[in-house]
Amino acid sequence: MVEENEDRMQKIVAWAKRRAFVYQSAEIYGGTGGIYDFGPYGVELKRNLREFFWQRFVKSRDDIVGLDSGIIMKEAVWQASGHIGPGFADPLSECKKCHRRFRADEIASTQHPAPSTQLEAGSRKLIAGYKCPNCGGELTAPRMFNILVKTYLGPAEDTSSVAYLRGETAQGMFVNFKTILETTRVKIPFGIAQVGKAFRNEITPGNFIFRTREFEQGEIEWFIDPEDKKKSPDFWFETWANEWMQFFIDLGLDKKNLKFRPHKKEELAHYSKATTDVEYNFPFGWDELAGIANRTDFDLTNHEKKSGKDMKYFDEASKRKYIPYVIEPTMGIDRTILALMCDGYTEEKVKNETRVVFKINSTLAPVKAAILPLVKDKKLIKIAQKLYKEIKEAGVVVEYDESGTIGRRYRRQDEIGTPWCVTLDFDSLKDKKATIRDRDTLKQERVKIAEIKDWLVDELKC
Ligand code: GAP
Repeated sequence: MVEENEDRMQKIVAWAKRRAFVYQSAEIYGGTGGIYDFGPYGVELKRNLREFFWQRFVKSRDDIVGLDSGIIMKEAVWQASGHIGPGFADPLSECKKCHRRFRADEIASTQHPAPSTQLEAGSRKLIAGYKCPNCGGELTAPRMFNILVKTYLGPAEDTSSVAYLRGETAQGMFVNFKTILETTRVKIPFGIAQVGKAFRNEITPGNFIFRTREFEQGEIEWFIDPEDKKKSPDFWFETWANEWMQFFIDLGLDKKNLKFRPHKKEELAHYSKATTDVEYNFPFGWDELAGIANRTDFDLTNHEKKSGKDMKYFDEASKRKYIPYVIEPTMGIDRTILALMCDGYTEEKVKNETRVVFKINSTLAPVKAAILPLVKDKKLIKIAQKLYKEIKEAGVVVEYDESGTIGRRYRRQDEIGTPWCVTLDFDSLKDKKATIRDRDTLKQERVKIAEIKDWLVDELKC
């Protein structure tokens, strides 16, 4: 089973590259560890996912506003948020023999017999006697290694110019909280949403795009009145946990591959009173896809203290002034893409041949339709290109392909997840109809060419 899953993961990684979804960054220079680039189909998929998120949580609601804040943020922000310090650090241990470095908490799982207790952050005791997973050498005691990515602004690289690439998009929403209150008409309860890059200098990036050093998050900070008896922080925590789970189900992920995992007290992030992860059953095992946290008033209180600016909300009705609590649903965009790939990558036997199909929701599919003249005939090409242009002008991502056998062209589209292939043959010249082939059922239907564009636009509306 383990081998089978490793094999599946390798196939998915190879397919993602072969079909222009994901490439290793700067591959011509040997690659940059933990950083990936999204190729022509990957970028379409990612844009569709962002749009799905935005449509659902910002455009279709009256109580969440969007934000696109700066990626580089001052040191003060990260001091206030607690990310500079042990709260956002990994315990790092080095092998004295081969000099490879490992996350100490991950070494624990490679030791036999397995330890009965988990490694506490910063603990030196548990690691004693453990061996290097690579060469069996002796390991150093773990040192805490902060994973924020540091940079300098301006010409001088000194302490006054230190800044950090954001380790979470959340802080942009906290530092803008008061300004958003003052410049929009939001009233508690309300949310701020952001989709964007985050950076962490992970010691052991791995599992393809699962744990990387540059990644994208989709987050909402949901501001609430902690004194509200009817809609308490626990009520909102549960509400958002269910919303989050439903989001992944509506993306098309198989329910049986999704579950909640509440955090134990000792693994809670430094800002969290309660956290539940949404886990996905990846080929390498169940792991975190997203999370819901009760961040209390931790961030706003600390920003108020550090900046000296009032972060309180004034409730007109009750004339109360208070620092809101925050419930934070968060998700990894790249991890969601990996889950969609793992869920959708399918190998099927069709007439003794293996058909690789990416079974993905049509809203997310990078290419919605392919226009394929059956053979290279001038008249066929003319009507096929006319249809292709018409669909393209309607804003639908469509491909035109006239090269190779029709079977090969279908296979190519199946592999990138194109839901519909439209084939024009010699009958099309007479009956003005084309054949629409469904990617998943392989059913073929004759449809009037003049109606195809509207049909497609209609199908993609949901
Ligand atoms: N604002 C809260 C926060 O950042 P987190 O659990 O550290 O919480 C949120 O990160 C989500 O971001 C995770 O659920 C995961 O999907 C994604 N994520 C975190 N670290 C990641 C990494 N190194 N590579 C890819 N995705 C990551």
